[in-house]
Amino acid sequence: MLILDEKKIRKGKPIGLPYQGSKKKISKKIIEIIKQNFGTDKIIYDIFGGGGAITAEFLLNGLSVYYNDLDKDATDMFLKVISEDKEYLKTLLVSREEFFRIRDKDDKTVDDNLKLLINSFGNNNKNYLYGKEHADIKYRLALEIIKRHDVFSGYKQTQTWKNQFRVLQQLQWLQQLQQLQQLERLQQLEHLHITNLDYKSFSDVKDAVFYLDPPYENTKQYYKGDTFDSQSFYDWAYEMSKKNIVLISSYEISDDRFKCVYEFKTAKSTLQSGCAGKRYEKLFMVK
Ligand SMILES: C[S@@+](CC[C@H](N)C(=O)[O-])C[C@H]1O[C@@H](n2cnc3c(N)ncnc32)[C@H](O)[C@@H]1O
Repeated sequence: MLILDEKKIRKGKPIGLPYQGSKKKISKKIIEIIKQNFGTDKIIYDIFGGGGAITAEFLLNGLSVYYNDLDKDATDMFLKVISEDKEYLKTLLVSREEFFRIRDKDDKTVDDNLKLLINSFGNNNKNYLYGKEHADIKYRLALEIIKRHDVFSGYKQTQTWKNQFRVLQQLQWLQQLQQLQQLERLQQLEHLHITNLDYKSFSDVKDAVFYLDPPYENTKQYYKGDTFDSQSFYDWAYEMSKKNIVLISSYEISDDRFKCVYEFKTAKSTLQSGCAGKRYEKLFMVK
């Protein structure tokens, strides 16, 4: 099993896009596990980088990272948010009507994709945050509050503001915008290398650390019409482990060449040891 001295975990909020399947909840721990067990000398590859939660955490720790995702929309959104300011973030809130207009467009810009992400229910890009009945009033209220107050810091602590802040927090938009703004803290972008390749394009890499967070087994995940072949991914990861440190994030791996090396338990479950629970996120390595 890998070790983790929890006292060394970075304080503060995790960062990254509110992306489906995001590792934001455990990203700070993952980086610390890699640092404590494998040091900081090797180059790091976040090959299924998605919304960038892991990449962002490496960058905050001053480490270089190769951030890859087959889906260019994901890496483009990450880059855009890093390079913009809070006035831009405020423009990402859209009405229900606008949301559906964008959703049905054939060619979507980065701004369109960000709008779909942060105004959709469960960040699914398909359904608007609110049903028809209340959508308009909630949207107008959110706009009004955002226009008048510094929603990102909540400095103006007048009573009206406090009340409105509470309303807006219930509206979810505020948290989403605050989360996005955290990404703007990332500045040393010379440490960031972005690509949009299939994972197999990295087959020649040696002496690196691979953090791999592929689409889960048995969940039908498609990328632009393709299903993800977990078995050929495991074959590839097995080969890569001969010349690299390879860590795979998953709940379960059906291929018995891999073993669980860390289980992310909740506070309640820490008394049990080992990797027994199916409900928890885990890290796997070759046996
Ligand atoms: C579980 S998500 C990763 C989430 C990410 N760790 C985060 O915190 O946001 C899996 C990602 O794999 C990407 N993906 C799917 N097939 C791929 C392939 N063949 N090569 C590279 N990336 C791929 C998907 O676009 C998706 O973003």
